[in-house]
Amino acid sequence: MLSNLKPQAADKILMLIEEYKADTRQGKIDLGVGVYKDPQGVTPVMRAVKAAEQRIWESQTTKAYTGLAGEPEYRNAMANMVLGDMPADRLASVASVGGTGAIRQALELARMANPDLTVHVSNPTWPNHLSIMKFMGLPFVEYRYFDNDSRGVDFEGMKADIAKAGKGDIVLLHGCCHNPTGANLTMDQWKEVVAILQQSGAVPLIDIAYQGFGDGLDADAAATRLVAQSLPEVLIAASCSKNFGIYRERTGILMALAENTAARDLSQGAMAFLNRQTFSFPPDHGARIVSTILNDAELRSDWAAELEDVRNSMLGLRAQLASELRDLSGSDRFDFLANHRGMFSRLGATPEQVQKLKTDSAIYMVGDSRLNIAGLNSDTVPVLARAIVDAGI
Ligand code: LMR
Repeated sequence: MLSNLKPQAADKILMLIEEYKADTRQGKIDLGVGVYKDPQGVTPVMRAVKAAEQRIWESQTTKAYTGLAGEPEYRNAMANMVLGDMPADRLASVASVGGTGAIRQALELARMANPDLTVHVSNPTWPNHLSIMKFMGLPFVEYRYFDNDSRGVDFEGMKADIAKAGKGDIVLLHGCCHNPTGANLTMDQWKEVVAILQQSGAVPLIDIAYQGFGDGLDADAAATRLVAQSLPEVLIAASCSKNFGIYRERTGILMALAENTAARDLSQGAMAFLNRQTFSFPPDHGARIVSTILNDAELRSDWAAELEDVRNSMLGLRAQLASELRDLSGSDRFDFLANHRGMFSRLGATPEQVQKLKTDSAIYMVGDSRLNIAGLNSDTVPVLARAIVDAGI
């Protein structure tokens, strides 16, 4: 039986990790997978996470099962972090296995509710969005998103395309810090997106995996909150991997805003059922770290301060890179790097140029020219800038 299996296409982001590891060159630079690294190249455990783990270790008396939906303390704290003061009568939520697990469960939930749906995704999007939908056999179409000339959003194209989503279709949107491009909508543009969805009855699924990495914790949630307040039905998949730095704990949440309490209860039941069918109980350790931090004023403020430092360091690297490139190229064509937000920017280079960066300069980025800004430090920025110019980008 097992010999009937077909080889699976390697995930292009995860493949880079292996390629990078195997490269023996001194001074190689990893701008691949979306993991924050400090200037020493270390992905640190955040101070508040360490403190929360210590508290949990000292006080936890059992590791018996939690509920299928996870702990209410975690779900309420996350709902508050993402949505602010949202009336609970419309909100269903379950803890998930990371943000990816929340996306998968959201798509399963949507298909249970509407087996005929089509998912509308940005072009480009996180490759695993596409891979999950292909694996599930979910029909999807891409909407225009990135304008390769300006390296900004092709908003007219986006609007025209998402207007084609019908009632009960899903429109997958990145809540902030678009992955892979780094190009984001303004709040005025979000209002226009909301108006289109109000008109069509398509349901937004917001993937928010980088809250706190763009313009700040609240600013990054503003679009999600606007959508949540304006539309009758909204699905939200949030991740704690990046903003709490607990990547391997697999901590996320799926939230569903329903039209009324009866639909909320149905959603809650279906989401708990989906957890049961997939893995039973969601992982608890990461969720407990998050709720310990968010529900404690001191830990929360220390965590928020450290997250601000991370965010500001990425902004500093963006500014430095744009400025180096302005000097080296004698043009402002790389200024978009300073305007993009989040961990990633899409350079807009060809696959050959990306390959050249790897071959000539041991600089690793995803083949679509997505680079992880947090993989840089002030010493490697000039090296990258020089290599970009030398590669003719
Ligand atoms: C990324 O886009 O690099 C991250 O979300 C990590 C992943 O799982 O792909």
